[in-house]
Amino acid sequence: MTSHFNAQAARNYADGPPRQVPGFAGIHRMMNLLLAETLPNDAQILVLGAGGGLEIKAMADFRPGWRFSGVDPSADMLNLAREITADHAPRVDLAEGYIDAAPEGPFDAATSVLVFHFIPREQRLETLRQIRRRLKPGAPFILAHISFPQTEPERSTWIARHVAYGQADDVDLAVAAKAREAIGTRLTILAPEEEEAMLREAGFANISLFYSAFSFRGWVAYAG
Ligand SMILES: C[S@@+](CC[C@H](N)C(=O)[O-])C[C@H]1O[C@@H](n2cnc3c(N)ncnc32)[C@H](O)[C@@H]1O
Repeated sequence: MTSHFNAQAARNYADGPPRQVPGFAGIHRMMNLLLAETLPNDAQILVLGAGGGLEIKAMADFRPGWRFSGVDPSADMLNLAREITADHAPRVDLAEGYIDAAPEGPFDAATSVLVFHFIPREQRLETLRQIRRRLKPGAPFILAHISFPQTEPERSTWIARHVAYGQADDVDLAVAAKAREAIGTRLTILAPEEEEAMLREAGFANISLFYSAFSFRGWVAYAG
């Protein structure tokens, strides 16, 4: 499995999510509030797909005592994360790799924001189990990414809506068609019910949908 995030993508990264993800700043705010409900001031937080650094920066700005272990397969995205979280460097450890490169913990919480649609279906459950295994009992896990119905015609409709949201209003029709094809073939998108079933199967409980905006969903779940 290779990351889609090379040097060019990393350079342009920080502009992308605020434009492509409805309510992007709100995801960070809700994530911080949900974590703060139960976390101690010196919490250790595991971040899967930490490259880019936006989510670590949001949490680090919010609580000066939280510490972060992030993993990501893209060296370029990790470099960007180092730049973006530079003010918090003593509290941020970053490692190159997939979930099996993460420290064993146990962690007080985990987050994975805008990452799971890059993980192939056959690795989703095992990735969730590996996150669960690294958490203390009852620890919260914040998960947010693209998720919409996978039966036709809903699937094609939602792919078109997803692409339209992120593009300029006067985008060329051929460009839009190519983007729809890329979304349909290069990402792994599951229906919300399947996401929740996998979270349960991986050992998470008390699963709540806290964010639902157009083609994106976000859940908080607790290590069972
Ligand atoms: C859209 S970025 C989100 C980054 C970060 N969560 C943030 O808020 O800035 C997606 C990241 O997921 C990483 N990624 C892709 N596949 C992954 C996998 N299987 N495990 C962990 N990270 C992955 C990419 O390299 C990329 O850095």
